[in-house]
Amino acid sequence: MLTEIKTSILSLLLITGSLFFIGCADLSNLNTTYGCFRCLCHVYTYCTISSECSDEYCGPFNISKSYWIEAGNITLQGDDPDRNDAWKDCANNYFCAQDIMKGYLQKFSKDCNDDGMINCYDFLAINSNGGDCRPLNQSLSGRVWLKRYGECRAAGLVA
Ligand SMILES: *[C@@H]1O[C@H](CO)[C@@H](O)[C@H](O)[C@H]1NC(C)=O
Ligand SMILES: *[C@@H]1O[C@H](CO)[C@@H](O)[C@H](O)[C@H]1NC(C)=O
Ligand SMILES: *[C@@H]1O[C@H](CO)[C@@H](O)[C@H](O)[C@H]1NC(C)=O
Ligand SMILES: *[C@@H]1O[C@H](CO)[C@@H](O)[C@H](O)[C@H]1NC(C)=O
Repeated sequence: MLTEIKTSILSLLLITGSLFFIGCADLSNLNTTYGCFRCLCHVYTYCTISSECSDEYCGPFNISKSYWIEAGNITLQGDDPDRNDAWKDCANNYFCAQDIMKGYLQKFSKDCNDDGMINCYDFLAINSNGGDCRPLNQSLSGRVWLKRYGECRAAGLVA
């Protein structure tokens, strides 16, 4: 199991490492980091990069259409948000999907655990529970996500 986790984290580092510097700006209000996005894709899908959606959840962050709408209908550059698959094509793209999440987090950003800062843990909570801060340990999937978040911590992806 540990080897699996290490392999999975290593592969996501390799996948994203070379693109590390793209889009560094614009996050001062979210105060997030690349480590956080790498962690969140690990949490939701083990950073599966695929152009397929399953059950209308798409991409490395497992994004749904309703989430995409709440986040502000963000698309790949030049795409038309009214095109049927525009949301899927963005959600399936590791970087465009991050823009969707930034839109969502910008809207719902708050300090869920009252520790005086808005960090990756808060993003996980906001993102996982429809924009509110309900504790993650109340559901089975929430507990799975918390466990994987712990793996990110152990791997040094997040504080
Ligand atoms: C994506 O999210 C849905 C709804 O929370 C969940 O049922 C599904 O298992 C998730 N898929 C993955 C790959 O985590
Ligand atoms: C976003 O897309 C949905 C569904 O296609 C549409 O109903 C909605 O009006 C769009 N919102 C904006 C702000 O364009
Ligand atoms: C942003 O991160 C810095 C360094 O980790 C921290 O000192 C600061 O409080 C954070 N700001 C917000 C608004 O969370
Ligand atoms: C769930 O998390 C909350 C807040 O972090 C905590 O107060 C509570 O004790 C936890 N419950 C369980 C069953 O772990």
